[in-house]
Amino acid sequence: MADTNQMNVPLCDLQAQYLSIKPELEAAALRVLASGQAILGPEVTKFEESVAKFCGSNYGVSCNSGSDALLLALCAADIGPGDEVIIPPFTFFATAGAICRTGAKPVFTDIDYATFNIDPLQIENKITSRTKAIMPVHLFGQCADMEPIWRIAERHNLLLIEDSAQSLGAEYQGKKTGSLAALACMSFYPTKNLGAFGEGGMVITNDAEWANKMNCLRVHGMEPKYYHKYIGWNARMDAIQAAFCNVKMNYLEQWLKNRQAAAARYDSIIDEEHLGSFLKKPTRKPNRNHTFNQYVVRVGGGERDALVQYLRSEKIGCEIYYPLPLHLQECLQFLGHAKGDFPTTESACNEVMALPMFPEITVEQQRRVISVCASFLRQKVRKVA
Ligand SMILES: Cc1ncc(COP(=O)(O)O)c(C=O)c1O
Repeated sequence: MADTNQMNVPLCDLQAQYLSIKPELEAAALRVLASGQAILGPEVTKFEESVAKFCGSNYGVSCNSGSDALLLALCAADIGPGDEVIIPPFTFFATAGAICRTGAKPVFTDIDYATFNIDPLQIENKITSRTKAIMPVHLFGQCADMEPIWRIAERHNLLLIEDSAQSLGAEYQGKKTGSLAALACMSFYPTKNLGAFGEGGMVITNDAEWANKMNCLRVHGMEPKYYHKYIGWNARMDAIQAAFCNVKMNYLEQWLKNRQAAAARYDSIIDEEHLGSFLKKPTRKPNRNHTFNQYVVRVGGGERDALVQYLRSEKIGCEIYYPLPLHLQECLQFLGHAKGDFPTTESACNEVMALPMFPEITVEQQRRVISVCASFLRQKVRKVA
C-alpha cells in the first residue's frame, strides 16, 4: 500500500478529471477545430439546450462567465440606477459587482449561521420602495431556503434571480437550481460542478422574451447585424468551451454523486478522529440536495488561520471562502457599512475553511487531509500542556 504520510492533496484536481475522460475531451477539441466555428454555433446551442433541460427550464443563454451571466440577467430585467437588489454579504464578489455595474445598489442581508446562505427572516427589513430584486446565492453547492423567499418576493412583487454559480445540480424540494427563480445564473469556471477549460456562464429562464433579450445583449445588443437595439457588450461563449462542457454533461450526475460520497466520507473520518468539535462539519438541510462544490468546515478555538498555514506547509490544499465580507471590501465603502453590521457573515469569514473536494478525490487523500488536521490539534494540545 502507498505511503500516504507524505501525500500532497490539491484543493481541486483538474488533471484527474481530464485524465478520466481524456479521449473524449481531445476529440471534442479536434471537432471544434475542424468545424471552423470558434464562437457560438451548434456546440453552444446543444450545451444551452442540455443545461436548460437538466435544470427543468425552457431556455439557456450562454455567455463567457458566471459574472456576465449575472450582468445579463440584471440587464434583461432592466435593473439599473436607482434600483436596489438584496444579496448576502457572504459570497464571491461577482454577486455584488454585477449589481454595481448596472448602476443599481447591492443591499446586504446577513446569512443563516448553519447553511451560510441568506437568512430569509432578515430580508423583509431590507426592502424599500427602490427594491427590485432579491438574489439569493446557493453557496458552496447547497440551495438557499427558497420557500420563505418565494413568499416574500410574491408579497412585495419582487423579481428573484438565483446566483447558482456554485450549485449546478443542487435541488430544493425536488426542483433543481435554475428552476427556482425567474432567472438563474451559472458559472462554468473550471472548478465548478461543471467546469469548462476556461471561462463560461449561462442564464437559465422560462421566459422567451428575456431569453431573446439576453441573446441580443451578449452580442452588443445587435439585431439585425450592425443595428443595435440595446447597449450590450461581447459576452459570447467559445465553441470549444461548450464542446468540453457537452462531454462533461454526460458525467455530471455521477460527479455530483461522487462529491456527495466524498462529503459523507469526510464526515465519518472527522468523527472517527474525534475532531467534530474542532472541525464543525457542513450542515445539510432536509429537502435540499447539497452538491458540495466545496466542503467547508468551521474551525473552532480561533485556530482557523493557523490550521490553514499548517495544512499548506504539509502540501494540503485549502482555501478561505471568503476572508473579507463584501460589506467591508474597499471598493464598496461607499455603501457606508462598518464592522459589526453583519455579525453572522463576519464570524463565518473568521472561521470557515474549505478542504480538498473534487469528484475524483480518494479515501486515502481524505484520510491524509484529516490526519494532518488531527496532528495540528495534537501539537496545539501538547504546547498548552
Ligand atoms: C457565487 C458566485 N457568483 C458568481 C461567480 C462568478 O462566476 P465566474 O467566475 O464564472 O465569472 C462565482 C465564481 O466563483 C461565484 O462563486
